[in-house]
Amino acid sequence: MSAQLFQPTSSTFLRNPYSVYKVLRETAPIFFYEGWQKWILTRYEDVNSLLRDKRLGRVTHHLDAQPRQLEGLEAEFEASRIGSLLEIEPPDHTRIKDVFHQTFTPKRVRELGEKVESLCHRLVDTLLEIPERKADLIEDFAQPIPVTVIADLLGVPEADRHQLVPWSKGIIGWFEPERSHEMELEAVRCAKDFIAYLADLIVQKRKQPGQDLFSDMIRIHDTEPARLSEQELINNCILLLNAGHEAVVNVIGNGMYALLRHPEQWLALKQDEKLIPTAIEEMMRFDTPLQFFERYVLEDLDYKGFHWPKGTGLCLYYASANHDSEVFTQPESFDIWRHPNPHIAFGLGLHYCIGAPLARVELQTALRVLSERLPDLGLLDGELEYHPKNVFRYLKALPVRY
Ligand code: HEM
Repeated sequence: MSAQLFQPTSSTFLRNPYSVYKVLRETAPIFFYEGWQKWILTRYEDVNSLLRDKRLGRVTHHLDAQPRQLEGLEAEFEASRIGSLLEIEPPDHTRIKDVFHQTFTPKRVRELGEKVESLCHRLVDTLLEIPERKADLIEDFAQPIPVTVIADLLGVPEADRHQLVPWSKGIIGWFEPERSHEMELEAVRCAKDFIAYLADLIVQKRKQPGQDLFSDMIRIHDTEPARLSEQELINNCILLLNAGHEAVVNVIGNGMYALLRHPEQWLALKQDEKLIPTAIEEMMRFDTPLQFFERYVLEDLDYKGFHWPKGTGLCLYYASANHDSEVFTQPESFDIWRHPNPHIAFGLGLHYCIGAPLARVELQTALRVLSERLPDLGLLDGELEYHPKNVFRYLKALPVRY
């Protein structure tokens, strides 16, 4: 039954995975998917409790007696992941997270927020110069916001910034379970180029440190190398680009698509900007940009009658949990007034998103500027297409008029 239902490469599933998640939650909330050799979990209760369970981790290699022997592209790509916060567990995770706490401060987030405001206005100014008053809201508005924020965070010079989006897009292809050989080659090429670029930038910033997070991290590495190696420094900056860019673009894309399909809610929001905080949470819940993440069993685990030996892989579906009727009333309805909204689009537990405060500032500012400056914003006719991806859910384009 579950095998027939869960066909992650089918176009029907990719168009609307939520109707499949619903049946899975009701009929097979935990099942083994042969295709990925992993367990699929779709209920809020399970995703929520397993994310907090210390017997699970994002990786298991810290428990191995011998270092892992990877080969080919796997080994080449791994060079960009070693020491990245998302690929480590305590005690290394605690050590690196401490570096982030020292450098990715609330003050820095506030300062970046002020820049986001003027950036959003500049982007709208450019949109208003287009005589036909038609644009792709993703490419022409959503995409430049987080990449500029990350470039500021890392102190990337203006002239080099155009490389960041292609690198990010190439690298994230690796994280798709259905990735092709071409996607792997592209991910490795982008990761290598980005590593080389950041290594050069370190040399420049040592000569001329900036006010940015990257300069602060370099200082920590240079004065206390035991807290942060050069490889950890570089790979965590790669993580910041990938984690900090794609999801924000996709919440704006998926979320504005949902909002503009509900003109009465768009009108209410334009009339009352106090609705913006709950609206962005609903955008993240309703069409979750990162559909699932994996966890691995760190020690043999018995859970609800299943026996999972050490090393077993689980796919925890945050997107499905966010539509569970046990937690959300009328989960298939988009509702910018929804409160409380305990969605788990930012994850939970040890690996909870450290960029959540920054993401919220970006999303709230983007939505406020759009509602103030483009009151006539609406969708152009035609059905929209999602990229055929399983982890990252995002539209190919969001054509709008204004
Ligand atoms: C709406 C936008 C965002 C969403 C939906 C999102 C979502 C997530 C999720 C679900 C995780 C946990 C992954 C897991 O459970 O395995 C995560 C982790 C992370 N995110 Fe975000 N994120 C967003 C924006 C950002 C931003 C703006 C940054 C930084 C600039 C960022 C940096 C990170 C980092 C470094 C981690 C790893 C944390 C750890 O492993 O301890 N994210 N994010």
